Amino acid sequence: MHISVTMHTMKRTRFSLMLLLHCCMCSFTGVVVAVQNKNVNTDQLALLALKAHITSDPQKIMTNWSTATSVCNWVGITCGARHLRVAVLNISYFDLTGSIPPELGNLSFLVQLDFTNNSFRDTLPMELSRLHRLKLISFGYNNFIATISSWFWSLSKLQT
Ligand SMILES: *[C@@H]1O[C@H](CO)[C@@H](O)[C@H](O)[C@H]1NC(C)=O
Ligand SMILES: *[C@@H]1O[C@H](CO)[C@@H](O)[C@H](O)[C@H]1NC(C)=O
Ligand SMILES: *[C@@H]1O[C@H](CO)[C@@H](O)[C@H](O)[C@H]1NC(C)=O
Ligand SMILES: *[C@@H]1O[C@H](CO)[C@@H](O)[C@H](O)[C@H]1NC(C)=O
Repeated sequence: MHISVTMHTMKRTRFSLMLLLHCCMCSFTGVVVAVQNKNVNTDQLALLALKAHITSDPQKIMTNWSTATSVCNWVGITCGARHLRVAVLNISYFDLTGSIPPELGNLSFLVQLDFTNNSFRDTLPMELSRLHRLKLISFGYNNFIATISSWFWSLSKLQT
């Protein structure tokens, strides 16, 4: 009787251990997937989200933003030589109307962001606070409702 109880306890312990291992593997797989997603495809998705938020593009700039080629070849995009990720997004003076989607906060290698002189409206999404490498942001001469929000000051590298 006593032995049988012990065996039962042992079985339960092994079962819990297996469960634990299984859960560890689950979260490990989760981590790997998350890491794989953070590549230039994330940049492409973010820029396509921006393209989808452009309502008027008289100079047809955005037709150049095609998945047929790397984002690094798109008009207004400069990729960093080291990581081959989007480092500069300069769509100034392109005569664009639209809004800035939160996905732009996924451009984690962005250093310069220049929207000057377009007709962007609404607000600058809070997600831009995730752009920790950002040194320059220029959004003058647009129709943003935005005032400078508090998240703005969390951009520690911002100089201009
Ligand atoms: C977009 O335009 C740039 C500069 O004119 C060019 O180098 C690039 O190949 C074009 N990309 C596409 C997809 O047409
Ligand atoms: C963006 O492009 C415009 C026009 O080519 C240029 O005047 C401006 O200096 C550029 N902005 C940045 C941050 O390089
Ligand atoms: C990008 O950002 C959006 C919203 O901020 C988020 O929902 C989405 O999962 C992100 N996408 C990728 C591919 O990282
Ligand atoms: C903005 O661009 C328009 C043309 O789209 C031009 O007429 C205007 O002078 C520019 N404004 C500034 C401040 O550069």
